[in-house]
Amino acid sequence: MTGTSNPRRRVEVPLGDRAYPVVVGHGAIDELASLLPATARRAAVVTQPGIPFVTDPGVAPGIEHDVIEIGVGESAKTMRTVEELCRRFARVGLSRHDVVIGVGGGMVTDVAGFAAASYHRGVPVVHVATTLLGMVDAAIGGKTGVNLPEGKNLVGAFWQPSAVVCDLDALDTLPERERRCGLGEMAKYHFLTGDDLLAMDLVDRVARCVEIKADVVAADEREGGRRAILNYGHTLAHALETATDHTIAHGEAVAVGLVFAARLAARLGRIDAARVDEHLAVVEGEYGLHASIPDGLDHGELVELMQRDKKALDGLTFVLDGPDGVEVVPGVDPAAVRATLDER
Ligand code: GLY
Repeated sequence: MTGTSNPRRRVEVPLGDRAYPVVVGHGAIDELASLLPATARRAAVVTQPGIPFVTDPGVAPGIEHDVIEIGVGESAKTMRTVEELCRRFARVGLSRHDVVIGVGGGMVTDVAGFAAASYHRGVPVVHVATTLLGMVDAAIGGKTGVNLPEGKNLVGAFWQPSAVVCDLDALDTLPERERRCGLGEMAKYHFLTGDDLLAMDLVDRVARCVEIKADVVAADEREGGRRAILNYGHTLAHALETATDHTIAHGEAVAVGLVFAARLAARLGRIDAARVDEHLAVVEGEYGLHASIPDGLDHGELVELMQRDKKALDGLTFVLDGPDGVEVVPGVDPAAVRATLDER
């Protein structure tokens, strides 16, 4: 996934007076300065060790800024980290007119966004997404939050950024596993729209994913309904992440979850075998991702974990393909879910 001569693309997330641009392209970090709120005199740059761009003077040009590193991994995605960030913001004198800049993958932008939503009851935040998953999903749409010991992302806020930068140069050094995670979310967009994303060059492909997500978010910012389709493949994915203690990464689990969701939809008579085969061909063949449920997991436990999913309003809730496209389906029979897990 390297260079392209394509120019940068600017996609708008159309949220009325809170609409914001997402700039996609190689070298897009150069536009960061022009995307910061005009009122900002100081920036708090929230990041992790080893993230690109942070040592670059371009990260917060023209204004005073402090770089604050947070820990790596789900175990650092906590209320304590948010408290530490807010205390640092207070100590450096960050005001409501200033800006938080989250530079990193989905974990950084989720935590930086939640700290920005909470400090002084809300300060502007700009995200610089440095992973493929961050660019096509996590940094877009204003979901922020942290984990509790009781579960993932249980505390958070909807807090839209003022702008997002997706500098594709960051992907040149992305570890293979991180790249697969982004591809898992990208395969999801394939099924939501039917777009042949892999036929596009990288700039257009990332921009198109942003556009798809922006449209869904604009139609249902707070997930009263339609936005839940962005969780296609995610019900099993979250259960797999918990059951494997996160040894399977989110995007990898989504790839498995997409094919599982297709098999479940076929068992429920919503789609035919050809559409299941298409899921398999896209996820494994085109995107090169693993689609089988890892060996050695207790399928009964997976069903229980899926019943505890925070989106499960009425028994087992899945996002499933069907004659009217992908939609949220509550009240799915646990026996059908178990039988699909047990399929070989
Ligand atoms: N990642 C799903 C959403 O933003 O709604």
